[in-house]
Amino acid sequence: MPNEPVMPMFNVQIDGNWHQFPKGTRVIEACEQVGVFVPRYCYHKQLSSPGNCRMCLIEMGFPKLGPDRKPELGPDGKPIINWMPRPQICCAQDVAEGMAVRTDSPLVKECRHGVMEFLLINHPLDCPICDQAGECQLQEFSVDYGNSQSRFLENKVKKPKGVELGPRVTLDDERCILCSRCIRFCQEIAHDDVLGFVDRGSHTVLTAHPGRSLDNNYSLNTVDICPVGALTSTDFRFKMRVWFLKETKSICTSCATGCNTIIGTREDVIYRQTPRENDHVNCCWMCDYGRLNFKYLEAQERLLEPQIQSEGRLVPADWPTAIGQAALRLKQFAAPEIAIVCSGRMTNEELWLTAQLVNSLGVKWVDIVPRRGQGDQILLSKDRNPNTNGARLILRSGSAPGAKLTAIANAVRSGEVKALVILKENAMHLGLSVEALAQLPALIVMNSLQNPATEKASVVLPACGFAEKRGSMVNSKGRLQRLNRATRPPGNARDDWEILRDLLQAIGGGNSLHSIEDVFRRMSETVPQFAGLSLSKIGDLGVHILEIEELPPTHPQDEKAIEEAIEIQARRRAVHEQVHEARAHAGATSVEREPAPRH
Ligand code: SF4
Ligand code: SF4
Ligand code: FES
Repeated sequence: MPNEPVMPMFNVQIDGNWHQFPKGTRVIEACEQVGVFVPRYCYHKQLSSPGNCRMCLIEMGFPKLGPDRKPELGPDGKPIINWMPRPQICCAQDVAEGMAVRTDSPLVKECRHGVMEFLLINHPLDCPICDQAGECQLQEFSVDYGNSQSRFLENKVKKPKGVELGPRVTLDDERCILCSRCIRFCQEIAHDDVLGFVDRGSHTVLTAHPGRSLDNNYSLNTVDICPVGALTSTDFRFKMRVWFLKETKSICTSCATGCNTIIGTREDVIYRQTPRENDHVNCCWMCDYGRLNFKYLEAQERLLEPQIQSEGRLVPADWPTAIGQAALRLKQFAAPEIAIVCSGRMTNEELWLTAQLVNSLGVKWVDIVPRRGQGDQILLSKDRNPNTNGARLILRSGSAPGAKLTAIANAVRSGEVKALVILKENAMHLGLSVEALAQLPALIVMNSLQNPATEKASVVLPACGFAEKRGSMVNSKGRLQRLNRATRPPGNARDDWEILRDLLQAIGGGNSLHSIEDVFRRMSETVPQFAGLSLSKIGDLGVHILEIEELPPTHPQDEKAIEEAIEIQARRRAVHEQVHEARAHAGATSVEREPAPRH
């Protein structure tokens, strides 16, 4: 094996103690690594360092060299440091051999006082009504490093407030401290050079370039990294004080990337999703589409009660009755007459229970619905199902996900399939009409949203949305990650794995599964990639379980069938959107709202 290149290490003195850091470490990061925090505004570890806020000023020096060009040593045997006469910023400077820094000297403290005073001179006294309160670095550093009183007697400069910088971001120019993080994010991460400063001195303002607006799919990350309340999310502003929010670590389920998130909730209402740092998946970012894709959990179309078909219409039922009815109907048919369509949005645990259901019934028709959109080279994946890889591993259906859908739809139309189980998908996306579904002797639907197909179901089982349940998923890079419950499901809806477990038990199986941990344990005994793992072992950052090359290659015929299925879905969606628009025109309310991009 070739030798790994050895990274040169430098000796650096921080506040009197010597440490070693690899070449290329920024001084502000070196300080952080040894537990010394240096306040900062413009520095962000994923962005370049322009060094324009001056909040990170420190004292810096290098060993005094003797006539022999070797460091002179003091009585303690350590090099004597020549300190630079003026303070230096530490965010744009890499460590060097023999470098010494002081982060808590009287000069440094005085510099921080001065910078805070300058920053606050024109800052409005907005804190009581500012959305950033509770997570504002200007407030926090003002307490830690600022003065308790202002010496400023003149009038503050007035700047624009409530500027619509883009469809999802609102700017309050008066609060901006001109750190340029948002500008650099757009240039360096979103690759959309849309923001800049105009005018001079204390009249400088942030703005979008003429004729442009901050409308890229990553725009809300600027709100996350803005250290003050200048950039706010138009969706979230003035809705909730951040200190009231309960924070739940989870993952985004809107595409196969699986960005790590924090879901902010209060009293079972989601107010916002923000990215959670995970360098293996999403660094500190997430796209706007995934971030805002949670409103449908509160849609009017949420299914709240189990329902069964009685005298030609759906009537509410209790859970044992609904599960009993579903099992009874399925048991009436022979294995070749049953098809199960599940979803790449389901968790591994739910898919494993589905696989047990498939085995118990002896079903040969089983597949997931593929879902694709445009990807980008940043985070958004073409695959809009968050757990296609989990489905491949667990269902082991012998063909690529989505390849059997057209055949299943044809078998339903021809009457070959008499009982159809649809799990977390809309049966109409298979290209089946409501009339064809209505002809089915048994249609069992488990979903969280109502749609025209659920109205024709024999049994409706209301399930949870992504933020209402626990479980695991495998992302597009083969990383196993955890989904956590942030809110309780509405009405009488139940956790998906419990519904599937009960259905399995009613059919004759699934015993001794009392918790989702039990399901994971059983799954890890049968799916080799999960061996030795448990939900708790996955941890907050997930574990890599799969080299993507390990996945079975897609058969060329599968590709054709998948494309066909996707085309059918696209056609159906287009028709649905037209109907939706026509209804909106007529003032009618929608009957089906799929989780949809809001950009
Ligand atoms: S809007 Fe926020 S992130 Fe952008 S320059 Fe101003 S303070 Fe910095
Ligand atoms: S890139 Fe994908 S996983 Fe990440 S936030 Fe966007 S939709 Fe969600
Ligand atoms: S953090 Fe160093 S100059 Fe802004």
